[in-house]
Amino acid sequence: MQTDLVLDKNTTLSENTPIQLPRLGFLGVGWIGRNRMEVIAHNQAGKVVYIADPVQVNSEEALKTADNAIVVNDLKEMLTGDVDGIVIATPSALHAEQTIAALEAGKAVFCQKPLGRNKEETKRVVEAAREADKLLGVDLSYRYTKAMQEVYRVVQSGELGEIYGVELTFHNAYGPDKPWFYDPKLSGGGCVIDLGVHLVDLALWCLNFPEVEKVTSSLFSKGKRITATDVIVEDYANSSINLQTGTHVQLTCSWNLPAGQEAIISAVFYGTNGGVAFKNTNGSFYDFVAERYYGTQTHTMCFPPDDWSGRAGVAWANRLAAGETFSPEAEEFVKVAEVLDRIYGK
Ligand SMILES: NC(=O)c1ccc[n+]([C@@H]2O[C@H](COP(=O)([O-])OP(=O)(O)OC[C@H]3O[C@@H](n4cnc5c(N)ncnc54)[C@H](O)[C@@H]3O)[C@@H](O)[C@H]2O)c1
Repeated sequence: MQTDLVLDKNTTLSENTPIQLPRLGFLGVGWIGRNRMEVIAHNQAGKVVYIADPVQVNSEEALKTADNAIVVNDLKEMLTGDVDGIVIATPSALHAEQTIAALEAGKAVFCQKPLGRNKEETKRVVEAAREADKLLGVDLSYRYTKAMQEVYRVVQSGELGEIYGVELTFHNAYGPDKPWFYDPKLSGGGCVIDLGVHLVDLALWCLNFPEVEKVTSSLFSKGKRITATDVIVEDYANSSINLQTGTHVQLTCSWNLPAGQEAIISAVFYGTNGGVAFKNTNGSFYDFVAERYYGTQTHTMCFPPDDWSGRAGVAWANRLAAGETFSPEAEEFVKVAEVLDRIYGK
C-alpha cells in the first residue's frame, strides 16, 4: 500500500515517488547511519555511492549492504566525487560544520538531529542551505510515524477546538551507550537535545510554529539540579513552554530514569472539544498508537506495526529526486533550536 506523508500543510509526497535515483554519500555509518543507508537503499530512494567512517569496521559493515559503493576517507574526498546529496549521521558536534561544508560544495544534505548544538549553529546551517539553494533535511523521524501523521491530521483539522494544553514525554530508561553523548561539547546537551528536540518539534509542527512567549525549566544530573554554567549534561528535564497563542506545553524527558519500562514516549494535545495522543505501547521504542479522546472515552485510530525507521530519509531522497531545492520550512529547525536554547537558559 502506498503511504502519503504530510510534510507541511501544502505538500504530500509518496514514499514510492518514481524519479531518477539521487547519488548519495553516507558520512558516519554507526548505528543510525547504517540503518538510514539501508532503508534508503531498500526503498530504492537513492543510490549508495560513497561511504566514509573513521572506524573501519563500521564502513566495512555498511559496505556489506551497499555492493557498488566506494569507501572514501572523509567528507572532503566524498565532496570531490559525483554525488547529489550527503547523508550525515556522525556525532552531533560535527553536524553543523559537515552540513555547511557539503552545502557549500553544492550538495543537498540529510542530517541527523540535532542539526546544531544551539540556535547559532543551526541558523548558520540554514543560511548556508539558503545561500546554496539546496534541499536540507533533518531526521525528525517521529513526524513520519503513521500514528503521528494521524495526530497531526486531527490537530490541523481544528476538530479539537481551542488547544490549551500539550503534554510531551520522552523517557529513555537506558540512556545512550556512547561516551560522546555525555560530553556537552560533543553533544550540545543531554536528554533535552537528544530526545526533547523531537517533542518540541512535534508540538510546534502540529500547532503551525507559533511564537514562543516564555520558557522555564528545571534540569537535573543524577538527581541534582544543574544550571547553564555547569559543564555537565542533564539526564532529567522538566520544562514549561508558553506559546503566544495561549497554549501551554509541558515537556518532560530523561535518560536512565527508573521508569519501570524501557521507554515512555508521548505527545498529547488537549482542546476544548477533546484530545489526541501519540503514544508508545508496552514501553517500546518502536511501536506507537494514535488515540482520540472524547471525555472518558478512548478511540484508537492507529495501531502498530509500522515500519517507520528511515522513512524521513526516504522522503528527503524522494524530494531530492523530484528536483526540490531549498525550502523555507528549514527555518523550523532554527525555531526548535531556539526553544532548546531557552530550556538550557542560554
Ligand atoms: N533521528 C533519530 O531519531 C536519531 C536516533 C538516534 C540517533 N540519532 C542521531 O544520530 C547521530 C549518530 O548517532 P549514533 O547513535 O548512530 O552514533 P554512533 O556513534 O553509533 O555513530 C556515529 C558514527 O560516526 C562516525 N564518525 C565519527 N566522526 C566522523 C567523521 N569525522 N566522519 C565520518 N564519520 C564519523 C563514528 O565512527 C560512528 O560510526 C547522533 O547525532 C544522534 O543524535 C538520531
